[in-house]
Amino acid sequence: MPVLGSPLHLDMLRSSGTRSSWVVRLARAVKYAFHSQGVYGLEWGDPEIVEPLRFVRDRYVLPYVNPAHAAVEIGPGGGRWTRYLLGFGKLYAVDYHAELLRELSKNFHPPNLHFIKNNGTDFPGIAAQSIDYVFSFGCFVHLDTRLIEEYLQSLKGIVKSASNVVIHYSDKSKVMAQLNHSFSDNTPQKMRQIVLLAGFRIVEEDLTTMWHSSIIRFTR
Ligand SMILES: C[S@@+](CC[C@H](N)C(=O)[O-])C[C@H]1O[C@@H](n2cnc3c(N)ncnc32)[C@H](O)[C@@H]1O
Repeated sequence: MPVLGSPLHLDMLRSSGTRSSWVVRLARAVKYAFHSQGVYGLEWGDPEIVEPLRFVRDRYVLPYVNPAHAAVEIGPGGGRWTRYLLGFGKLYAVDYHAELLRELSKNFHPPNLHFIKNNGTDFPGIAAQSIDYVFSFGCFVHLDTRLIEEYLQSLKGIVKSASNVVIHYSDKSKVMAQLNHSFSDNTPQKMRQIVLLAGFRIVEEDLTTMWHSSIIRFTR
């Protein structure tokens, strides 16, 4: 799948509203009413409830949220993680699909949240070296390593030297990723190489929290 024109994300968004029987939809609605704001994407796991995702939130997201800082989320989808990032002074939600940004804006539209439709690997309208924190979950898992290389080149231009970049990516060294054909052909070894070649410094790697993917945190 990992090509930019793939309909994967639009198909997932459209089918999330239609594929289920009324029983399943009712059960989901009740679950959302009790546990969440009903944002698109929670069907893959709610960080309020699912332990590994809660760990990701508590370790890689919440400690970095700072009202004096500017942040970027790449591929926000319906806002499953965006809701934890709204405490930044400025938050750019960058997505390749305008339809997904529209979905996000249904639930989230505070004045500090800026929606950016990009061309797949760029950050149009974001000033050079202005960003303190970058987060992406569930997006790079689908991106071909060539696109990741391009993304990191663009990213280098917008982040400050003391920034933190947290990327969740496909890890085909894990069986669960091998079984998922929408996941790209990436591994921690390849990801390390891409990050270092782009001129970043790796600060932290998490190879164990997720069953089908891994997380890397790096800085300039
Ligand atoms: C599977 S969803 C994950 C959404 C959200 N991050 C979450 O975890 O619930 C993938 C998101 O990445 C977006 N996306 C796909 N390719 C992208 C790209 N090249 N650049 C930015 N966003 C992209 C999709 O439109 C969608 O919003």
